[in-house]
Amino acid sequence: MSDRSNPVLARTPPQILGPFYPIARTPELGGDLTRHGGGKASGTVLYLSGRVTTVAGDPVPDAQIEIWQANANGRYDHPGDENPAPLDPHFAGYGLLRTDADGRYAAKTIRPIAYPVAPGVIRPAHIHFMVTSRTERLVTQMYFSGDAYNAIDPFLASARRKDALIVTPFPAGRADDPGAEMAEFNIVIGA
Ligand SMILES: [Fe+2]
Repeated sequence: MSDRSNPVLARTPPQILGPFYPIARTPELGGDLTRHGGGKASGTVLYLSGRVTTVAGDPVPDAQIEIWQANANGRYDHPGDENPAPLDPHFAGYGLLRTDADGRYAAKTIRPIAYPVAPGVIRPAHIHFMVTSRTERLVTQMYFSGDAYNAIDPFLASARRKDALIVTPFPAGRADDPGAEMAEFNIVIGA
């Protein structure tokens, strides 16, 4: 157990919930968002994993993690998304995970792309997270390094530490899933 009076990690910055939280959908359980409806989602597979800890560095076990995102075309499966890009019937778009005893989580998803939110306004690619522990809830977003829209996104700019929200995917190197990428997104909450 770490010394709670001596924080060693900075909290992950919060972000807005956004308009496309999937209030009317049932989340995919089990961590694989890429095999919905009996087929394979299009796009680059992203093996996403990380650890939820407290500011003292202690694991947060049994935390609930909701993730939701646009598909490989930049479209949310949400009635409020007016982007004409096509839906993907094989992409779940919304997953529900739990951290293990060491605070770790894992998901298999699709790398989203940037999408339009208004004429002339594009949001960089991102994945929304809502982390709920026994005592705390964090709503945030994870971004991808190298996205040209990161530099002009007002929501990412609102984060006190932008770097804490940006991951750098790299090749997963899996013979069973050529072309797949992996990324690690660690999350620090209060307790
Ligand atoms: Fe979004």
